[in-house]
Amino acid sequence: MLEGASGTMSLERRVDALRKTIEQLNYDYYILDQPTATDAEYDALMQELRQIEAEHPELVSPESPTQRVGATPSARFASVRHPLPMLSLSNIYSREDLDAWAARLQRILPGATFAYVTEPKIDGLAVALTYVDGVLQQGATRGDGVVGEDITANIRTIRNIPLRLSSRNGAPTPRLLEVRGEVFMRRADFEKLNLRIEENGGRPFMNPRNGAAGSLRQLDPAITASRPLRFLGYGIGMAEELAPIATHLDALQTLHDFGFETPPDARLNATIDDVWAECERWLERRNSIPFEIDGVVIKVNDLRQQEELGIVSRDPRWATAYKFPAIQQTTRINDIVVNVGRTGALTPLALLEPVNIGGVLVSRATLHNEGEIRRKDIRIGDVVVVQRAGDVIPQVVQVMTERRTGNEREFVMPEFCPVCNAPTHRGEGEAVRYCTNSACPAQLKRHVQHFVARGAMDIEGLGEKLADRFVDLGMIRDLGDIYRLDWEQIAALEGLGEQSASNLKASVEASRNLPLQRLIFGLGIPFVGERSARLLADRFHSLDSLIAADVATIDSIPGIGPVQAQGVYDFFQTPENLAVIAKLREAGVRLADEDGDGGPAKGALAGKTVVLTGRLSTLTRQQAEERLRRAGATVTGSVSKKTSVVFAGEDAGSKADRARELGVPILDEQAMLEILEGAPLPLGKGQTS
Ligand code: IVH
Repeated sequence: MLEGASGTMSLERRVDALRKTIEQLNYDYYILDQPTATDAEYDALMQELRQIEAEHPELVSPESPTQRVGATPSARFASVRHPLPMLSLSNIYSREDLDAWAARLQRILPGATFAYVTEPKIDGLAVALTYVDGVLQQGATRGDGVVGEDITANIRTIRNIPLRLSSRNGAPTPRLLEVRGEVFMRRADFEKLNLRIEENGGRPFMNPRNGAAGSLRQLDPAITASRPLRFLGYGIGMAEELAPIATHLDALQTLHDFGFETPPDARLNATIDDVWAECERWLERRNSIPFEIDGVVIKVNDLRQQEELGIVSRDPRWATAYKFPAIQQTTRINDIVVNVGRTGALTPLALLEPVNIGGVLVSRATLHNEGEIRRKDIRIGDVVVVQRAGDVIPQVVQVMTERRTGNEREFVMPEFCPVCNAPTHRGEGEAVRYCTNSACPAQLKRHVQHFVARGAMDIEGLGEKLADRFVDLGMIRDLGDIYRLDWEQIAALEGLGEQSASNLKASVEASRNLPLQRLIFGLGIPFVGERSARLLADRFHSLDSLIAADVATIDSIPGIGPVQAQGVYDFFQTPENLAVIAKLREAGVRLADEDGDGGPAKGALAGKTVVLTGRLSTLTRQQAEERLRRAGATVTGSVSKKTSVVFAGEDAGSKADRARELGVPILDEQAMLEILEGAPLPLGKGQTS
């Protein structure tokens, strides 16, 4: 690929090199459908060539790529000459450019009042569809604007293109109608297509536009037919015996009535302020609409005014395109490093030669996992296409393998964690490699964050940044250290001070005395969420009883599954975890509920597992659950053989049916209230206690 102009190169040689490179890029793009540079790169080369030619007209030659618009039509398809040239659009990039464009219109037609239509600029490829007596006769690519390719067979496979014009408004069928518009692919369809191509070992497309181009220019229409292409009509070219049309909006309406999809949300604007507001609105919506747009097209609405304004070279004066900043760029991968996330997951990260993408300097891109690196064959030193869309982390879209020099290095995921040096492990069939050390600082940060969160120990003031800082400073090496923090040292930390330290100390103190379920949840036991933590606390009442329980006992708790039970059991078999619990105990953290002697709970429903269903009339569901629990019951969400009783309010549905099937007693709200007052609980079939 061509590097920047060197001081020693003569201008002639530079021009020659630019032309050759541009021709090659054109060929890769249009003929091979495999672009080897981004649009921005291509534009920069063209811009440089144009500038040199403007300053040195003696260097201009008819073969220069600046002397034609678009690309060489492929030799594979028959050529078709467009009855009217297919124009391109001038570009604007800012409000100033827009004002200048509008001012020029006013200069050409002094005193005229303009209205402007704004439409999304769909990022696909332009085609012209010719209908004779209402029947689709020909479809052609834009080509160089004068001569395109005959792709009729492929066009016929696009499902939202009418093969015959409909006449919704009873309008007469024109003898000839040339519809101009864009063939494109929706983002979601593009993703699915790429997956399919990758599964079949093919090379995925770089973006939806390339996907559309590559699919449309297939010699075998069956392939095109299998691709999710769509068409939007945005204008009328040649026409005969077509009812008169006065405005661009009329033209869009006419296309719509003939059965075409037209650009969504095309709007009429009376002022340039309104036009600019639309440009900004589309830019904001850019990532949330189903297809890619690369700008907004602004068109003078009145067709007579359009004609009066005319065309300069290939660009009509009456229209222009506000181009969004590009979201893809090429750059080089200088290195690949590995990030250890809070789950212990190792994520490879590409360190890039910094590149400006849409106004943001990008120097890193995620590579997701080792599978992704292998699939895309990404190597250190590669020139790659990087994409930044909205707020998502920049991604490497594709390697430009054509630009390899042979000096690229393959990357191997480390066998040892780059943070703590413990071995890493990737399970069979899994995409992600993990650090195996749960005390790895990278993981510890996440554990601390979880421990102090609301729903767990609710330690206010110990936010993510501060917790990370304590871990980095070695002040927190495990969860137990949260209760051994040195408050004087903390008060002396930059940005903290006495007041913050004392507030934080107060929240840490307050967290010592919370219900057991909060602590169980906060410990971060695999698969144990808030609900399971409550079930475990309800059943065992103290951490010591839970630690002493075997898998079968844990598994017997309704609402706890076998995987969870094993996870809980394993957690308490791990010496590091027990050491943390010892530290918590020493620090005075409550490890049992009030009645937590580990013995069976007391109360009318002690040891019973109950299910609440249907609508209650005297209590809210929450109040009822609370009272049942206070009476010693474990409240679960689904009926099983382990259920002692189902309390059913009004309109109880499938849970009551299930209870009936299993012979579990069903009692109504009144009976529940009586039991809560101390009445005995009836026994179900096969139940002995
Ligand atoms: S109007 C004379 N409207 O943009 C006007 N073009 O750079 C010709 N495009 O080749 C085009 N969406 O492929 C127009 N709503 C829209 C468009 C649109 C996408 C493309 C089209 C054209 C290119 C111009």
